[in-house]
Amino acid sequence: MNDFFTLSDGSQIPKIGFGTFNDAFADNKTSIIQAIECGYRFFDTASLYETERSLGNAVKESGIARNEVFIETKLWIDEMGAENARIAVEKSLKRLQTDYIDIYMIHWPRQSGADDEKWKELDIETWHAMEDMVKQGIVKKLGLSNFLPHHLKNILDNCTIRPVADQLELHPGHLQEAAVNCCKANGVLPMAWSPLSHGKDNDRAGAGMLAKLAEKYGKSIQQISLRFLIQKGIMPIPKASSAAHMRSNLEVFDFELTEDEVSILTSMPQTAWLGEHPDFAIPDRKSNPDN
Ligand SMILES: NC(=O)c1ccc[n+]([C@@H]2O[C@H](COP(=O)([O-])OP(=O)(O)OC[C@H]3O[C@@H](n4cnc5c(N)ncnc54)[C@H](OP(=O)(O)O)[C@@H]3O)[C@@H](O)[C@H]2O)c1
Repeated sequence: MNDFFTLSDGSQIPKIGFGTFNDAFADNKTSIIQAIECGYRFFDTASLYETERSLGNAVKESGIARNEVFIETKLWIDEMGAENARIAVEKSLKRLQTDYIDIYMIHWPRQSGADDEKWKELDIETWHAMEDMVKQGIVKKLGLSNFLPHHLKNILDNCTIRPVADQLELHPGHLQEAAVNCCKANGVLPMAWSPLSHGKDNDRAGAGMLAKLAEKYGKSIQQISLRFLIQKGIMPIPKASSAAHMRSNLEVFDFELTEDEVSILTSMPQTAWLGEHPDFAIPDRKSNPDN
């Protein structure tokens, strides 16, 4: 793979990762093996996705050395708190069939709605348990997911190990500038989940601009979206189940958008979240205790 982002601890990770949420990869190691063969070396999963086992199987069966792939996983909201987190990481390690996780994230900043004032304490308690995992060597780096500036600040004010990344819903037309700027000001790499608008790139306001640039560079609008995010210093983790999509999403290092083009795409009309708002709409999903 072509290029790397440097994290705040000085280590490097590929500029594009591979998302494994979820039906296409649950009990399906073949597609993930295909992604490894295409050249992906960074994989995003979560206990909630139920794809950790497929990813672990794929890494094993592909024959690739463990230290040549980055594995990122997350604990879910019902796995927060010191004791729950300790149980959650052991389960993840077992499913992933590995003795360490490269980046371990808190998936969501709040367990319940906006009236719950205890979220700060719970985030800190969970984070401190995760810091212990780093000291034990079972986790290499810590990260966050869906943390907005106020959630991020709570961690930064109370941590001894700083988060290296924050995974946010980011794509052209939904850039969450406040959160991204806060990440960058604090040395936290913003990662883009649903970087291709969950496959709905074509439907968005401003899609015409993406199409125009796609024509200019002889690329697809998805490649323009990925290139745009990378040039904004954001790491996309697209999901693809077809090998053609997997390959084409990596072919974004042979062209460069101009400053004006980046500015035009940055100025696209901003649309609502595809997912839930981290403070006001807590996902109504539970981790599977039998997984
Ligand atoms: N932290 C969080 O809360 C959170 C939330 C959601 C997602 N995520 C992570 O982010 C990853 C990516 O997000 P996502 O899966 O929601 O959406 P996405 O990556 O934005 O879009 C995936 C869709 O785009 C299609 N696609 C991929 N490459 C394409 C290409 N080159 N041309 C045309 N279509 C293409 C895929 O089709 P095919 O499958 O048919 O190839 C699939 O339907 C997830 O897998 C997960 O790891 C994290």
